[in-house]
Parts: sequence; structure tokens; C-alpha cells
Amino acid sequence: MSGTTSQLQVDGKTVDMAIKTGSIGPSVIDIGKLYAQTGMFTYDPGFTSTASCESQITYIDGDEGVLLYRGYPIEQLAEHGDFLETCYLLLEGELPTASQKADFDYRVTRHTMVHEQMARFFQGFRRDAHPMAVMVGSIGAMSAFYHDSTDISDPHQRMVASMRMIAKMPTLAAMAYKYTVGQPFVYPLNSLDYTSNFLRMCFAVPAEEYKVNPVLSRALDRIFILHADHEQNASTSTVRLAGSSGANPFACIAAGAACLWGPAHGGANEAALKMLEEIGSVENIPKYIAKAKDKNDPFRLMGFGHRVYKNYDPRAKIMQKTTHEVLNELGIKDDPLLDVAIELERIALSDSYFIEKKLYPNIDFYSGITLKAMGFPTSMFTALFALARTVGWIAQWKEMIEDPSQRIGRPRQLYTGAPLREYNPIGRR
Ligand code: CMC
Repeated sequence: MSGTTSQLQVDGKTVDMAIKTGSIGPSVIDIGKLYAQTGMFTYDPGFTSTASCESQITYIDGDEGVLLYRGYPIEQLAEHGDFLETCYLLLEGELPTASQKADFDYRVTRHTMVHEQMARFFQGFRRDAHPMAVMVGSIGAMSAFYHDSTDISDPHQRMVASMRMIAKMPTLAAMAYKYTVGQPFVYPLNSLDYTSNFLRMCFAVPAEEYKVNPVLSRALDRIFILHADHEQNASTSTVRLAGSSGANPFACIAAGAACLWGPAHGGANEAALKMLEEIGSVENIPKYIAKAKDKNDPFRLMGFGHRVYKNYDPRAKIMQKTTHEVLNELGIKDDPLLDVAIELERIALSDSYFIEKKLYPNIDFYSGITLKAMGFPTSMFTALFALARTVGWIAQWKEMIEDPSQRIGRPRQLYTGAPLREYNPIGRR
């Protein structure tokens, strides 16, 4: 490599490729013309060395354990701000002034109700459906209910669709929960803040008065901030890829939610809690550590390891503190799951297998304990992640749509199937 270009030798030919430098983080080699110049593609399954886009939204330094939204450290946003401020920041690029924040909160609040017909749409699901199945279906269905905001070439419609999704996601998630427990849907109450409103829609019943606990509301709001964006992860890349074809925003966000559901991604918080329950007590930990290290055993420590973080996930540190705050507030002195989690973390962090592979607790390790203590069933954990990540998906989708150089995403492949062969009629096979 030299200066701002790099050179690649292929079949005796020298190909010059520009090196592009970002504001921080690794530079990239622009291989856009490689195929035209060499007739070859690059090969990078799982995209471990491939930047799929240019973005100004979120920055992660996985070695140092740093996460910035629009340049601001996650720790400062979680400590001082609220979730809607983070939404504004991710969407607009700057922190809002007091009047911008008041206006944004007002606009989100005015969009919290969903079309009444959607309540009947929910009746079509089985009561025992997983809330994420209901979320994926109902987010996608929004394009059928709100077609006046599906024209992606109209900036106003894009803005309306974005506000609708951020505002209605808590309503849909709460409806998904209420539906599975067989309780009536609770309408949003616009005098409450975003997260308190969500807690009320989940846990209030018409038969009695419900008072939002401000400590729990603040803790959940912080959890939403921690989950709001995480640069080009699997679900966000899914949203971008779906959006690159010109699909409507509701369809794109439904695609992101479907991807998030997987246990290697957003489903890990549910899987981590189930794992802690399965381990059950501190004495059983060595057995599970041995299983996680056994190459022939598919078992993994859920809530451990990350594609990008090769250090303690900064979100996990804040999450751990939030867990203690919530358990204290609820007067839960001895939670056996927390005991298992703390001991598991201690053992894993001193075990050479985990140290060498740089496997640290990620955000999902502690979030399950906290959400369970708040009263959410495990099946709702990923739905809460989807609720919070919606703004990140939208900000990334919007950035892509507004980029004049945007083209349809179309990865290539290394074909290893049968070469050309003649069709053999069925009677001669
Ligand atoms: N337990 C035991 N071994 C592990 C684990 C784990 N949780 N994670 C990775 N390893 C090992 C893996 O077996 C491999 O070993 P080897 O080099 O000997 O083959 C090595 O560490 C590298 O793992 P990898 O699967 O190649 O790494 P990846 O970057 O492809 O996967 C991951 C990242 C998050 C999918 C993986 O660490 C994992 O499955 N973790 C558990 C699931 C989890 O907690 N996911 C939540 C991620 S954070 C929330 C989010 O952003 O969605």
C-alpha cells in the first residue's frame, strides 16, 4: 500500500485501489472496480472484513469497548439523556435544543395509537404465538394500514413513516404481550412519557389503577438507549438491503425485526436467561463452562462473545448497574439467577479459553435478569429489543435512501455447484 492507494497483484496485472479514510476507525480499500479490472470478486463470508456502506450514525471500537452515537459516548447518553433524545440524535445527527426536543416528543406522542382495525388484525394470531412472530407480522402489516406514508421518494412521507414506527412500536409490542396473556389491549395515554406509557400499556388492567414506578421506567428507558443502534449488524444490514430495492419502510423494518429474532442476534437475551435458568445454581457452572469449551458440543455461553467487541461490551457495564438498581427497587435481595450470572461471569473472565478468544459478556447477559424482574416474560425480550432498535433501523434506512450514490445491494458469490450439464429426461435417469 502507498499513500491513499493500495495495489493488488492479480495474474501479473497491478490494480490500483483507492484507500478511503473515515473520521475515526479503520480505513477501507475501495474494491468497487475490482471485478471490472480483474474479473474476480472478493470473498468474505459473514462480512468480517467488508464495510458495506459509508455511515455517520454509530461508531464502535470493538478492541477498546467504545460505542458512540453521532460521536457521543453511550455512557453519557445513558446517564444524562432519555430515549427520545437519543432517537432525535440518531435521526437528525445533533442533540435537540429544548424546543426541538419538546416538539419531537409531542410529535411522537401524537402518533402512539394504532389504526383500530389493527386490533382485529391481531385476533388472527394464535394466542400462544411468539410475540416476535406477532411483531414481524404486525410491523409488516403497517404498510397495509398506512399506505399514505409508503412513497419513499417523498421526504415528507419518509418522515411520517419514521414517526409512526417509533411511536407505534411500543403500542404494538404491548399489544403482542397483552394478546398472549389474554388481557384487553390498553390504549396509550399521551400524558405519560414514552417509556412510562409502554409500561402502562403492558401492565395496566382495566380492573385497577396502575401507577408507573419511575425507577423502573427510567431503567427501561436506559435499556432502550443502549439498544437504539449498533452500526451495520445483521438486522440493520437486512433493513438496508431490503430498503435498497425501494421496498416501503414498514416492510424494511419488518425484515429487520425478522432477522433480529435469531438467537445469535436479538434472540440472545431470551436464550441467555433460559441458559441461566437451566444452569440453576452456582455448583452447576463448571459443567456448563466445560460444555461451552468442548468443540464437539454445540452449547455456547449465551450473552458471551461478540463479532465486534473483543473487550467488555460497554453496554453490558451499564446494563449490569441497571440490573442492580432494578433489583434493589423491587426489594429482590437474593436472586439465584443473578448469583449464577455473577459467578459465571467471574469464572469465564478468568478462564483461558474465554480470555484467549476475547469472549466478554455482551449486553444480553444482564438484560434478561432485569426485564424478568420488571415482569416481562422471556418471550417478550426480543420484542423489547426490536422496539428500541427501530430508531436505529430507521436512521440507517433514511441515511441510505438520502445517499445519492445508493444502488440496490447485490452481493456476488463463489459458485461451487455443478458446471454446465445436459438435461436428462425423467425416463432416462
Ligand atoms: N461460548 C463459547 N464459545 C464461543 C462463544 C460463546 N458464547 N462465542 C464464540 N465462541 C468461540 C467459537 O466457538 C469460536 O471458537 P473457535 O475459534 O475455536 O472455532 C470463537 O469463539 C469465535 O467465535 P465465532 O462464532 O467465530 O465468532 P462470531 O463473531 O462469528 O460470533 C457471536 C459472534 C455473538 C454470534 C458468538 O460469540 C455467539 O454465538 N455468542 C452467543 C450468542 C450471543 O450472546 N449473541 C448476542 C450478541 S450481542 C447482541 C447483538 O448485537 O445482537
